[in-house]
Amino acid sequence: MIHDDVEEVLLTDAQIRTRVAELGAQLSQDFDGRDPVLVSVLKGSIIFLADLVRAMEIPLSVDLMEVSSYGASTESSGQVRILKDLSRPIEGRHVVVVEDIIDTGLTLNYLLRYLRDKGPASLGICCLLDKPARRLAPIEIDYRGFTIPDRFVIGYGLDYDERYRNLPYIGVLRPSVYGASAAPE
Ligand code: IMP
Repeated sequence: MIHDDVEEVLLTDAQIRTRVAELGAQLSQDFDGRDPVLVSVLKGSIIFLADLVRAMEIPLSVDLMEVSSYGASTESSGQVRILKDLSRPIEGRHVVVVEDIIDTGLTLNYLLRYLRDKGPASLGICCLLDKPARRLAPIEIDYRGFTIPDRFVIGYGLDYDERYRNLPYIGVLRPSVYGASAAPE
């Protein structure tokens, strides 16, 4: 069972649900009448996005991008490549980038510059998890779910080597899973 590989639960299913409902309500209020586009980054953010949009009661659209940041390792390469682009133009639209986690901020920093060049009316950031300890690029987060310590986390969309995305909570991986020689950052 995947649960056996979890050393510690950082955020329970219930905690996440409550916070996502609050974020959804806040976004609904702030973007009422603005027909926002929620741009999410595959794959880690999809579960957050799916729950977040269902906590919102205003008309909105969703678009998806995929960028490369981490491989099988748990360290950011700092290199960002766009693997999947937006499917519709965002010029003149109110855009909210929905991210699972902001760690070094390098991925999002690149993405924000890319999106800003496309002329949106506004560009906001909503992230579920903020891991500020390792930030390399300053990022102004408009909507933040939780601030977490500098641990490598899995679950609720977040993976280690493509596994554990289906855990309903956010947890810390047992060190025996990745081996003592390659401790996640
Ligand atoms: P950044 O560019 O360092 O901010 O990394 C952003 C991306 O790295 C996130 O969207 C995640 O996909 C991944 N990432 C960063 N920290 C973690 C973690 O603790 N667990 C799983 N993935 C992570």
